[in-house]
Amino acid sequence: MNENNDTLKQILAAARHEVAKVIIGQADVVDKSLIAIFTGQHALIEGVPGVAKTLLVRTLAHVLGCGFSRIQFTPDLMPADITGTNVFNLQRNEFTLIPGPVFTSFLLADEINRAPAKTQSALLQAMQERTVTIDRETHVLPANFTVFATQNPIEYEGTYPLPEAQKDRFMLKISMSAPGRDEEFTLAQRTLSRESPEATLTSGAVQAVIRAEDLPAVRAQLNDITVRDELTGYLVDLVRATRTHESVLVGAGPRATQSLLLASRAAAALAGRDFVTPDDIKAMAGPVLEHRLILRAEFEIEGLAVSEVIQRILQEITVPR
Ligand SMILES: Nc1ncnc2c1ncn2[C@@H]1O[C@H](COP(=O)(O)OP(=O)(O)OP(=O)(O)O)[C@@H](O)[C@H]1O
Ligand SMILES: [Mg+2]
Repeated sequence: MNENNDTLKQILAAARHEVAKVIIGQADVVDKSLIAIFTGQHALIEGVPGVAKTLLVRTLAHVLGCGFSRIQFTPDLMPADITGTNVFNLQRNEFTLIPGPVFTSFLLADEINRAPAKTQSALLQAMQERTVTIDRETHVLPANFTVFATQNPIEYEGTYPLPEAQKDRFMLKISMSAPGRDEEFTLAQRTLSRESPEATLTSGAVQAVIRAEDLPAVRAQLNDITVRDELTGYLVDLVRATRTHESVLVGAGPRATQSLLLASRAAAALAGRDFVTPDDIKAMAGPVLEHRLILRAEFEIEGLAVSEVIQRILQEITVPR
């Protein structure tokens, strides 16, 4: 085991610890967020209002020393409201860039399905290319640029659901459910005291575990986590099986293979290991694959869930020894 790898694991463990000072429970959600951040990818967050989606991303930004901004998507939001605009500066007799909210490290794109396709595309392009082009000039986004996009699962009316092809740009989907009774009781008690989650975040009690400029080098240590060829083969077979399964109309593309590999490696690091196990891959299969599959209508009508299909595929493919 090399020294570098210890740093990655230490930072991950410390980040979990600091986030837990604010976010009650939701350990699985925190881990998946860390996986998206440390692999330099993006995540979809799904959850009913008030489950602390915003607070989670704000807290992660604070703990990892990164900038944070939030865009509320609305039907009249324009691409330039995301990327920014060049404004003529009379004194200097030249155009200067007024950067949009996309120029940050952690971007919360709230209710992404409320804006029309053209505006969604501006964000999706920035996610893919990690640059923004304004008036033919290309600007590079910060190194830790990570998008967390929420979709409102209840109100579909008057919205523009993300096309499947665009959901593929998100490494994984994080589902946030309501807290359990014990967690909700803790939340209630802390709300009555002076230690509400928000107050805790701003109180100085929550430490940053790294500086933004040091994060890329620590993230790169994920490259030292090994994956045996047999396991890579297993993972490839899993993704390919989604394309031929009887109930699936559209399966997961090759981006899913890359995402599942990267996510499994980060999951191994979170578990304190230097190597990926079949269980890492199994645990990440649902979050990585679910949002990329479309079922055939007849199976959907029968009430078959995508998560169920993934479980069946996991049972069908033989795990290498
Ligand atoms: N697990 C939790 N840990 C800490 N605070 C929580 C938790 N769940 C809910 N809360 C509290 O719930 C409130 C709502 O949080 P937040 O605004 O982040 O929710 P949201 O999911 O972004 O909601 P919306 O969908 O309306 O934007 C916050 O005041 C937060 O303190
Ligand atoms: Mg919110």
